[in-house]
Amino acid sequence: MKDKIKIAVLVSGGGTNLQALIDAQKAGIINSGRISLVVSNNINAYALERAKNEDIPSAVLLKSECGGQDAFEDRLIGLLKDNGIELIVLAGFMSILSEKFTKAFEHRIINVHPSLIPSFCGKGFYGLRVHEAALSYGVKVTGATVHYVNEIPDGGEIIMQKAVKIKKDDTAEILQKRVMQEAEWKILPRATENVCKKLIKAKGIV
Ligand code: GAR
Repeated sequence: MKDKIKIAVLVSGGGTNLQALIDAQKAGIINSGRISLVVSNNINAYALERAKNEDIPSAVLLKSECGGQDAFEDRLIGLLKDNGIELIVLAGFMSILSEKFTKAFEHRIINVHPSLIPSFCGKGFYGLRVHEAALSYGVKVTGATVHYVNEIPDGGEIIMQKAVKIKKDDTAEILQKRVMQEAEWKILPRATENVCKKLIKAKGIV
């Protein structure tokens, strides 16, 4: 426990990926890290309920109340550092972080994106929009990607990907659910464990 990597999960919405991380921690799939904090930029995020149900400390940080992106990021950096956070997992966190933030946690932020990067990613591609774009382009295979976060939206080094086949009658909603079930909820916990292991190794603990 003492040597586990302290993880913060940043959320904005339903939090099914947060739930997948919690379940993976309970199942021992995540064993090298511990979810220590959940931060939401949306007070109504159901993800906050999920954290509460598991007695995971949570915080709400609103850009509007902080007085803009810069002040929001300063507060967020302070909160994460005060809590000794070593790895940040963006799990449906719908805000683009600036270079100042990503540089403050270089190679310590990962994100799950609901497509096979470099398709359907970058600014403007989030949530259901990603699946609408995949369907309207007519791709036959989509999926999910976990990647490191740098200053380029969805542009950091890829850690893990999983493909999902598109079916004839898919709507964006149906596809979103299948990509979550078949890809996101599987690769996000595995990638989190892998990165935690790497961070422990870098600390020289094992
Ligand atoms: C997930 O599909 C996640 O990949 C996506 O938002 C959804 C959040 O669901 N993230 C992005 O599009 C980020 N670019 P959740 O709140 O139930 O985990």
